Amino acid sequence: MTEIMMKAGPKAKQIIERDQNVITPSYMRDYPFVIDHGKGAEVWDVDGRRYIDFTSGIAVLSTGHAHPRVVKAVQDQAARYLHMAGTDFFEPMGVVLAEKLNEIAPFEEPARVYFSNSGTEAVEAALKLARHYTGRAQFIGFIGGFHGRTMGALAFTSSKFKQRADYFPMMPGVTHVPYPDPYRPILNGDGYADAGERVLAYLEDTIFRTMVPAEEVAAVLVEPIQGEGGYIVPPDSFLPGLRALCDKHGILLIMDEIQSGIGRTGKWWATEHWGVEPDIVCSAKGIASGMPLGAVIARKSVMTWGRGAQGSTYGGNPVACAAALATIELIEEGYMQNAVEVGEYLIDGLREIAPRHPSIGDIRGKGMMIGIELVKSPQTREYAPDLMHTTILRGFDEGLLLLGCGVSALRFMPPLNLTRELADEALTMFDRALSRAEDEHL
Ligand SMILES: Cc1ncc(COP(=O)(O)O)c(C=O)c1O
Repeated sequence: MTEIMMKAGPKAKQIIERDQNVITPSYMRDYPFVIDHGKGAEVWDVDGRRYIDFTSGIAVLSTGHAHPRVVKAVQDQAARYLHMAGTDFFEPMGVVLAEKLNEIAPFEEPARVYFSNSGTEAVEAALKLARHYTGRAQFIGFIGGFHGRTMGALAFTSSKFKQRADYFPMMPGVTHVPYPDPYRPILNGDGYADAGERVLAYLEDTIFRTMVPAEEVAAVLVEPIQGEGGYIVPPDSFLPGLRALCDKHGILLIMDEIQSGIGRTGKWWATEHWGVEPDIVCSAKGIASGMPLGAVIARKSVMTWGRGAQGSTYGGNPVACAAALATIELIEEGYMQNAVEVGEYLIDGLREIAPRHPSIGDIRGKGMMIGIELVKSPQTREYAPDLMHTTILRGFDEGLLLLGCGVSALRFMPPLNLTRELADEALTMFDRALSRAEDEHL
């Protein structure tokens, strides 16, 4: 905290001191950014300093800060009514949004939608739905996965032990298997085409044979690109193979698209990159440009629970739904294509600067979900967490807001409407920040 305080401007310092007095100490906060206002991919702190935001408030601000069309949608809806509890009353905004989500859902079959307020609640509801629909109790999750912090989702979350420590026992019925990380495969892949096939064989031949009978498994919960775990893109074999395995055993496939969905990877849903149709999709974060909203989008034949089986007082709040409708429209009209083009531009830019940075071990991602794995040496691939933290701090000094993921990776997750000009400026800042961190650590 001392280095953070040293970097804080005078007004930021005041807020941080007050924060430390009254706000839970469980938050992360790597640097003393205290927002005053934002516009697009730029933000200004309370001391008047400008930054480029490559965090989007943890992959939430898909249309950037304070997009005028989102703001207008929120204002218009707020002036009409703020709330009418979709759980107990019919409410039009939720219907309109669910119809739109049905249109873009990543499966052929019609969809039904359950709304929540956050990602973790969407995961909770998806797990309950899976148990309800299948009558089975067991689940498969992945090491390195992040699905939220409530007790059901937390039973799957395994990207950092800190999120679980002191909270045991977890919800029973979850068995973890390795996520296929092409850069750091956990399982020895000898005799297999790639890390994806290796993990699928482990699930089928080891887990299902020795620990959990496949016919007792309700669902597999998976991120199509692992987010908090390190922005890990699985090999092409993995998701199609997982779909086939689920089909073989009557297991539901729940795709957690909370971080990867709603255009971030250049498609509505990351699973579409592999042509895989899940049974249930969890969405949140980027869906409403910053208004709190989560959604479980399920095949109609799967969302068959009865009256009173699931609900939420605030879930599908009409103001959040209005923000989501404006967000989806903007993404459809061009931001998704921009995510493809400027995302590629960022990856190309990173590949250009990589040769002068010995700490860049791997660059990966799709669209504007880009991970940069930092290592002590590209030969040993040894993790470099200190270097990662210093790079984040030096990024802040340069005027670039960054967040880490995994053990020592950085993520680029800017708003989907990032311009090439801001991408260039951010790459220059990143280049300088990483050089300074390398000077301190290598
Ligand atoms: C893939 C994924 N699932 C679930 C969650 C939990 O979402 P929330 O923080 O809104 O509960 C997150 C949040 O980072 C996430 O990235």
